[in-house]
Amino acid sequence: MSNEIKRIGVFSSGGDAPGMNAAIRAVVRTASYYDLHVYGIYQGYEGMIEGKIKRIETRDVGNIIHRGGTILKTARSEKFKTKEGRQAAFESLQAFNIDGLVAIGGDGTYTGAKIFGEEFGIPIIGVPGTIDNDLYGTDYTIGYDTAINTAIEAVDKIRDTADSHNRLFFVEVMGRDTGFIALSTGIGSGAGSIFLPELKGEMDSLFEVLKKSYKRNKLFNIIIVAEGDNNGGATEVAKAVKEKFPDFDARVTIIGHLQRGGSPTCRDRVLASILGASAVEGLLNGHKAEAVGIVNHEIVYTPFEEAITKHKELSKDLIRLAPILAL
Ligand code: F6P
Repeated sequence: MSNEIKRIGVFSSGGDAPGMNAAIRAVVRTASYYDLHVYGIYQGYEGMIEGKIKRIETRDVGNIIHRGGTILKTARSEKFKTKEGRQAAFESLQAFNIDGLVAIGGDGTYTGAKIFGEEFGIPIIGVPGTIDNDLYGTDYTIGYDTAINTAIEAVDKIRDTADSHNRLFFVEVMGRDTGFIALSTGIGSGAGSIFLPELKGEMDSLFEVLKKSYKRNKLFNIIIVAEGDNNGGATEVAKAVKEKFPDFDARVTIIGHLQRGGSPTCRDRVLASILGASAVEGLLNGHKAEAVGIVNHEIVYTPFEEAITKHKELSKDLIRLAPILAL
């Protein structure tokens, strides 16, 4: 392994995701194993600009593997989108002689890392941390498994009241641009219909499903809607259904940021541990401007350019099976 890198900075950026702490812990412990110094950069790119940087050591990351959120805090930075902001961020890193970075976050984090790396030549490895699971270059992102488990737990509870009252519930889950959370939550909670940003025409099929269930006197149903669906989210879908079927007693629940919190599942902790450790080893092995991920059980490094521009597809099998399983 190369000895060039001596001091690495680690930060989380964008929306927090359960498992980010496990990733930070893995970065710090692995770096220590290889005799590197680690600096925590607080509040993502924003904190990098403002110089919110502090040395962190192995004991500082004890007792965090099970905690949701991120001990390094996070932010969505507008300033970092400017050349002046990035220059200030680079100067902050120079003040601590930081010569490599681990960036934990989603596509916005990767985009910032790509530009920053190109401008200042600093090696950066991205770690996929977002509940959305919408990053190319990894089968799963850190936080996704916890988020879908939180979502189905919520839907299971809603199902009880929906059943008791014969109500139709429209449950909105997160996912501005992609329907990974909605698709898994829908299949896992036995939803009657699933609305995804990637699809069109669900409204007509929902009307058909509801017509059939009305004939069978089934007035309760759970419909999962991704926040970024093409009809305007759960509230709009519910409105359209109420107009067409005034007899249905409909309610809307938006699960919202509940999905981002809580203790990470074992799956997320293990994923975060492998990816955090592999980010450090990647830096030491000369990787830069790449995101680490796991594809088909193998650790892979994908150039930021590809990770940002390529689109990860939803499972065609799940999309095909959803209406069959809802019959
Ligand atoms: O990217 C993660 C995510 O939770 C999305 O699913 C959601 O659309 C967005 O962040 C919400 O962002 P914020 O917390 O900044 O409102």
